[in-house]
This record gives sequence, structure tokens and C-alpha cells, in this order.
Amino acid sequence: MAGATTILALTILTLSSLLHPTNSHQFSTNLSKRAMGISTKREKLSHLHFYFHDIVSGRNPTAVRIAEAAATNSSATGFGFVAMIDDPLTSGPNYMSSEIVGRAQGLYGSADLSEVGLLMVMNFAFVAGKFNGSTLSVLGRNAVFSALREMPVVGGSGAFRFARGYAQARTHFYDFKTGDAVVQYNVFVLHY
Ligand SMILES: *[C@@H]1O[C@H](CO)[C@@H](O)[C@H](O)[C@H]1NC(C)=O
Ligand SMILES: *[C@@H]1O[C@H](CO)[C@@H](O)[C@H](O)[C@H]1NC(C)=O
Ligand SMILES: *[C@@H]1O[C@H](CO)[C@@H](O)[C@H](O)[C@H]1NC(C)=O
Repeated sequence: MAGATTILALTILTLSSLLHPTNSHQFSTNLSKRAMGISTKREKLSHLHFYFHDIVSGRNPTAVRIAEAAATNSSATGFGFVAMIDDPLTSGPNYMSSEIVGRAQGLYGSADLSEVGLLMVMNFAFVAGKFNGSTLSVLGRNAVFSALREMPVVGGSGAFRFARGYAQARTHFYDFKTGDAVVQYNVFVLHY
């Protein structure tokens, strides 16, 4: 029995060393851009335009508060609160009549003691057109009561590998009673 186990273990070891040669354990290697297929490609500049629906009220909110500081209610800016979002992104401003082009998934939290300034950490996960299945990652500051906010695009996946750029946000609609918002986004991104 022990013999059979040893033979099995040796066979697995031999097979795995064939499948994963020793040098695959190297922590880092230099790759040629040519081998990755990007040396001949020129970087493209894409512009994406969509509307972000932040629904905090009703029975099916897409943004939910998940944390707050004990002293949050004594701060005018809600400093310390954090919300998790899975907000739909649509081609036009009207949620009912527009195509869903993606979702904004991630977090925002109040990170400013003196004005309403959010830290946004989110991925735009696209589901339409040539960017279906690709994502862009945004990490930035969003002073929501300013007319125009700008946040860096720090990377991406799929069609957006090696992406960098910026996203501009303008509030299209804000319901002061419910807190629901529709925000227009213009995203400018360099990618291969
Ligand atoms: C990668 O390139 C750097 C700079 O040219 C060189 O110093 C390093 O030895 C290379 N590493 C490997 C694993 O080839
Ligand atoms: C802050 O206010 C909200 C709404 O009034 C309440 O639900 C929540 O429990 C309060 N939080 C604290 C920490 O007092
Ligand atoms: C997006 O990709 C998914 C998965 O590959 C596919 O099921 C879906 O039909 C695609 N949608 C569009 C609009 O191309």
C-alpha cells in the first residue's frame, strides 16, 4: 500500500515538473512586448459616455450604507460612512428607456471633514458592445456638490489592459428627499 502511494506521488511529481518547468518558479522575468503582442499596436484613446444611477432609496437600492463612524451623525459631511454599490450604467439618462452598458461596482465613503468629498474605489464592468467583459478601475476623490469632478482611471482588464486615463462626473439629477442620483460620466482612456 505504502509502495503504491509512493509510486503515485512520484508520478504526480514527475508530471507536474513536466507541466511546470523549474523556471516557472522564477519570481519575475523580463518579457518582450512583441511576445505579448503589444509592440506593434498603437495606443488608442477611447471616450466612453454613460449615466450612473445611484439608487439609495426604495425596495431595491443599488447603493447601501455598510459602515459609519460612531460620531457620523454629528459631522455635517457624514465623515466616515462607507457604502457598497452595484450601480447600473446606462447609455442615456433615463433608466427605463436606455440600454444598460455596464455596472459600477465598489465602494464610496466620506473622506472629507469640511465638505462632502467622497473617496471612490470602483470598477466599471461593461456589458455592451466591444467593451463587453472588460473593466476599468477608478480611484479618486468625488466632491459631489461640485459641478464637475475628475477621478483617475488607474487601470483595466480585457480590452482595457494597461489602461490609464480620467473620468469626469457631472450630476444630472439629484433627489434631495431620497438621495437618489443620476450622474453623467465622460471617461477618456488610453489603452492598446
Ligand atoms: C531584466 O532586465 C534588467 C534590466 O535590463 C536586468 O538587469 C535583469 O537582469 C533582467 N532580468 C532577467 C531575469 O533577465
Ligand atoms: C445616525 O442616524 C441614522 C438616521 O437617523 C440612524 O439610523 C443611525 O443609527 C445613527 N447612527 C449613529 C451611530 O448614531
Ligand atoms: C456579453 O458577453 C456575455 C458573455 O460572453 C454574453 O453572454 C452576452 O451576450 C454579451 N452581450 C452583448 C451585448 O454582447
